[in-house]
Amino acid sequence: MTRLAHIADLHFGDEDPSLVADFLTRLPEAGVDVVVVAGDLTQTGSRREFALAADFLAAIDPPVVLTPGNHDTPLLDIASRLTRPWRRLQSAMAAHATPRFADNDIHIESFNSARGAQFRLDWSLGVISRRKLAAPIKALSESPAGTRILTAHHPILSPLENRGRARTRRAPRFAQQIAETADLVLTGHLHQHFACPVDTGARTSWFVGVSTAFSSRTREEAAGFNLIDISDTHFDLHRFDAVEQGDQRKFEATGKTRLERQ
Ligand SMILES: [Fe+2]
Repeated sequence: MTRLAHIADLHFGDEDPSLVADFLTRLPEAGVDVVVVAGDLTQTGSRREFALAADFLAAIDPPVVLTPGNHDTPLLDIASRLTRPWRRLQSAMAAHATPRFADNDIHIESFNSARGAQFRLDWSLGVISRRKLAAPIKALSESPAGTRILTAHHPILSPLENRGRARTRRAPRFAQQIAETADLVLTGHLHQHFACPVDTGARTSWFVGVSTAFSSRTREEAAGFNLIDISDTHFDLHRFDAVEQGDQRKFEATGKTRLERQ
């Protein structure tokens, strides 16, 4: 069995230090084999925030798979957003995380669904490009691993379908291909826990979202993260939510859901 931690929307710069400390304490105790960070490490893409995020990742022992989010490009530096939106992220994170991971049992690939700028008003929304998706889909298709996992920041399938903040461009077009290739799809952005199944005929693929990990300003849901136990027949999804404890917050296990793969 492999145990994976799924976190997203860390938003360093706006983080709750008590939640960061609690997560780092829990991780070794939980016996996590690999950590997936599904984008939005920072709040505004500043160097100070990336330094905080790098310190956090440096404190994690297992391998980390990382994909960018829309908050990971410099917020107010339009020139950088147009010409080199991910340079800061890449230089700060290179020593601590990779875009993929594979061992005998699982294979994780990522792709970038965020953009520095777009031809639409809301630049925070996601985009799937055939070109960026091609290499991870090929790698997963050819992988001998029993469990193939894809991660991106923006939702591909979610309970919001393709409305509101879940308007990921071309997601409806690529969702079925992704479901047929990946057994598990891990995303962030919505600050919402969910698990959506897709029956491909041969098996069930699961699209899983997670709340913000550490943000001090939460939307409808408490901050939280997922631990996912991977076996050949099912995924056990353990959900953790932040709870108030005096003037601090800590994570608490709030539920376990079995996601059948057959
Ligand atoms: Fe986001």
